[in-house]
Order: sequence, then C-alpha cells, then structure tokens
Amino acid sequence: MSEEKRQVEKIREAFEQEFGRFANLSVENLSLSEAEDLQRELSAFRVKQTGKKSEIAGLNKLVGRIAPEERAEFGKLVQSLVADVNQSLTEADATLKTFVENAKIERERIDVTLPGTRPRAGHLHLLTILRQKIEEIFVSLGYSIEDDREIETDYYNFDALNIPEGHPARESQDTFYTTNGFALRSQTSTVQIRAMERRGVPIRIIAPGRVFRRDTPDLTHTPMFHQIEGLCVDKNITMAHLKGTVGEWLRRLFGKETRIRLRPSYFPFTEPSAEFDFSCFKCGGTGAFDGERCRPCKGSGWIELGGSGMVHPNVLRACNVDPQVYSGFAFGFGLERMCSLMYSLDDIRLMFENDVRFLEQFK
Ligand code: DAH
Repeated sequence: MSEEKRQVEKIREAFEQEFGRFANLSVENLSLSEAEDLQRELSAFRVKQTGKKSEIAGLNKLVGRIAPEERAEFGKLVQSLVADVNQSLTEADATLKTFVENAKIERERIDVTLPGTRPRAGHLHLLTILRQKIEEIFVSLGYSIEDDREIETDYYNFDALNIPEGHPARESQDTFYTTNGFALRSQTSTVQIRAMERRGVPIRIIAPGRVFRRDTPDLTHTPMFHQIEGLCVDKNITMAHLKGTVGEWLRRLFGKETRIRLRPSYFPFTEPSAEFDFSCFKCGGTGAFDGERCRPCKGSGWIELGGSGMVHPNVLRACNVDPQVYSGFAFGFGLERMCSLMYSLDDIRLMFENDVRFLEQFK
C-alpha cells in the first residue's frame, strides 16, 4: 500500500505545481479580458484534473483494489486529496468570478456626475441675419418679399431688362451658362420682370437672392454672392420716392442721422439711373474716426452701396405695363459688401468658408 500512498502524494504534488498559476491570484492587476481567459483556462484545468480520465479518477478506482483492512485509510487519503483539489479549484474560480463580475459592472457604470456634452447649438449666418433685418424694414414699409429662380433664360436675365445684344454682361466670360444655354442669373433684377408678370402693378417688392458671376475669387469677389433688389411701381412714382425710400431703410438700419446721396450713373434697365451712397455709419460722415482716417468709408465719409433708378419704359413695356400711366423706381445692392463694411471684414471669402470660429463671432 505504500506504493499507492506515494502515488497519491505524487498526484497532489503535481496538482499543486500546476495549480500554482491559479493560486493566490492578485486579480487587481488583471484586465477584464485576462481574467476571462484565466476563467476558461481554469475550467479546462478542472476537467483535466478531476474529469473521468484524470489521475484522481483513477485513484478512486484503485480504492476497490486495496486490501480490505487498508481500504478505509487509503480511501480517506484519496478523499482528502479530492477535497483539497476541489477546494483550491473552487476558491480560484470564485475569485475570478467575483473579479469579472465587478469589472463588468465597473465598465458599464454610468457616472451621472460627469459633466455632460452639450450639443452645440448653431445660429444664423451673418448674411442671413442682415438679410432678415432688411426684410423686416421693407415689410414694415409695405413691401412684400419675392423669391424666384436662379437659372434664367436670356430673356429674363437680359432682354426684358433692356440689356442689349453685345452688352458685356451677356458674354460668357461674365455670366455662367448651363450646357443647354440657360443663364445663372447675374443680378436679382430678373425678379422685377417675373414679379410684374405675376402680380401686375401697382407693386412693391424686395427680392433677396443669390447671383452668379464668372469672377475669380479674391478679397472682394466670389462667383456667387447675394443681392437685394427693390421695385416699386405705381402711378406718379418719382425719383423723390426712390430717394425717400432708400434713405428711410438706411436710416432704420444705421440710425436716423444717416444721409444718402444719389450720383448719376447708367444701367440699361433704368432711366435716369443713379448710384446711391450713404453717410458712413462709423464716422457719421466726417471721414475720421478716433483721430484716424475712417476705415469703412476710406476717409470719404460716404459708403457706396448700390445702383438704382427709374424703371426704364422698355422694362415696363416688357411686362405689359403702360409707361404713360405707371412709373417706378428700382434699386439693387450686394449683401456681402454691406456685411464686409459693417463688420470690417478684409476678405469676402470668409463668409463662405464656414469656419465656425469665424461665424460664431456674429450671433
Ligand atoms: N442689378 C444691378 C447690379 O447688379 C444693380 C441695380 C442697379 C439694380 C439699378 C437695380 C437698379 O434695380 O435699378 O449691379
């Protein structure tokens, strides 16, 4: 029987040696996946050590072959080995299980005290803000807002606006054309025609919108920009109404001290035509600010804004309006230019690059 006892001892020693890596696990240093790996190894190890084909199972069979008087003692020996082995395995298993469970809970824990991620709320683009301000002013003056197409026929972009064949604006160097011969409108004046055709006269509208020109982008040019067009047609409308209206909306925008002036000019769709300037909102028209040359007006005291005039009889006729009965004024100006002046922007392209750091300054 001493032979068998030695065998039990040998098995115990072998087990203890192999079990070494599971004994006294310092789980604190494990990652969750390492611990899960160990769990799988441990369960394979348990099968190998205690399964049907294990040496320990062999010992149980051996008990039956021991001489009866020694059987009880040997049986106890084997049982104590089995108990020790099971206890070691169970302890290691429990340690790993607890660790894995806690690690999972920890991983899934939501710390409600952490600062939240605030959604960044957007805001309107500076061009939109300015456009809306101007729209509000005109609506309060009895105007309605007209919107129309950006792709036009030559008729609406040029002919109906009295822009003759051979005018440089009609050339493809200046205007974008689609492959099938439509023009991307180069000015919002096209809406004058569309609106009069649709609504007839009398009419008071402003038409904000995008326009397109074949310009190479630089500090003051982009191939797309925005204009606002104004049109007022009724009986007995005179140049005085033009001056009064342009003056009024600029005073509402820049303050009641604002003055305007008209300079003779030429546009095919107006006669007479005038460019309109307004006294600088920064220096009040003095040309100097803080003892230095005023920037927006370049020291002149005046800011050139747009074109205007009395609607040309040919334009009225194109819309079936009798120029003997009706007269009207129209004006148009660029929004980007106005924005650049108001916010001292050196580069008009900034308005289209959509750099949030830039845009955020103009809420
Ligand atoms: N359409 C002109 C431009 O793009 C501006 C303009 C001038 C509009 C005179 C008008 C006007 O309505 O009467 O430069």
